[in-house]
Amino acid sequence: MRNFDEKTITDAVIERFSQCSDARTKQISEALVRHLHNFIREIRPTEEEWAYGIDFLTRTGQKCDDKRQEFILLSDVLGVSMLVDAINHPPMKGVTESTVFGPFYVNDPPQFELGQNLAGNFEGDPMFIEGSVSSPDGKPLAGASVDVWHSDGIGNYDVQQLDKLGGFAGRGLLKTDAQGRFRFWTIRPVFYPVPTDGPVGELLRAQGRHPFRPAHVHFMLRAPGYERLVTHVFGAGDKYIDSDAVFGVKDSLIREYIRKPAGTAPDGTKMDKPYYYLNFDFVMRPAAAARERAKKSKSEPAGSTIAYVPK
Ligand code: BEZ
Ligand code: FE
Repeated sequence: MRNFDEKTITDAVIERFSQCSDARTKQISEALVRHLHNFIREIRPTEEEWAYGIDFLTRTGQKCDDKRQEFILLSDVLGVSMLVDAINHPPMKGVTESTVFGPFYVNDPPQFELGQNLAGNFEGDPMFIEGSVSSPDGKPLAGASVDVWHSDGIGNYDVQQLDKLGGFAGRGLLKTDAQGRFRFWTIRPVFYPVPTDGPVGELLRAQGRHPFRPAHVHFMLRAPGYERLVTHVFGAGDKYIDSDAVFGVKDSLIREYIRKPAGTAPDGTKMDKPYYYLNFDFVMRPAAAARERAKKSKSEPAGSTIAYVPK
């Protein structure tokens, strides 16, 4: 076969996959070529634009290391991460919704007892967070892992300023008590920009977009027999709540970070200045429901959106 033109090239490339023995690889390869060729036919790039695209992807790869994953950031700002999340975690009545994982989780986070303060040397307003973890039928999940991470009161994560802070801050791992409850002190997070010093920042600027994410606290919950839940609790009224740079906001995940006057906090702590209070009750999806869904879609059950985990 030769003499391909704009119309015949697509089928010719797809034909080359005819001997592919893995059905999923074949399906993905065919769809990739079909959509990519249609995209090119639609935009009709100049050769300079094609070269720019190659250079953009090259620089995206070059920006990646063990602490930075620019390709996943690209997936995030193009809404692909949340699309993958939506496909793998369709809403289930009564179950807490998931959202994007983000780049700022660290493996083996510091562990805390319930009620302790995980703020480290973060700057900002104190915040008390409490809530519960249960099954859809209301059974409290005792001993569930509650992994928390968030930005400080200025808009930075600890991993972006470890030297200044002298260690981790605003992150920690707790276990729920016998009633499935958790509580801890920290600093109220505020909105912050996704990293903009690489090709993704260049893309956002070219597209006339801001890079901000509304204030949120990340949670990752794990309990035996339940699907891992990766989610956030967003602060109501944040100026970026309707324009999250990575499309992660869901109504069900928004709560007021309530400003309380100085006085006695819910855990009995005497506060000599105002503080913030957040309550969120999580409901986890039984693992059987995840397996059922995977069987229907003929794919493996997914834990959550792929994480890019700084070491
Ligand atoms: C985050 O929430 O930490 C985040 C998510 C996606 C891209 C950048 C940051
Ligand atoms: Fe975040």
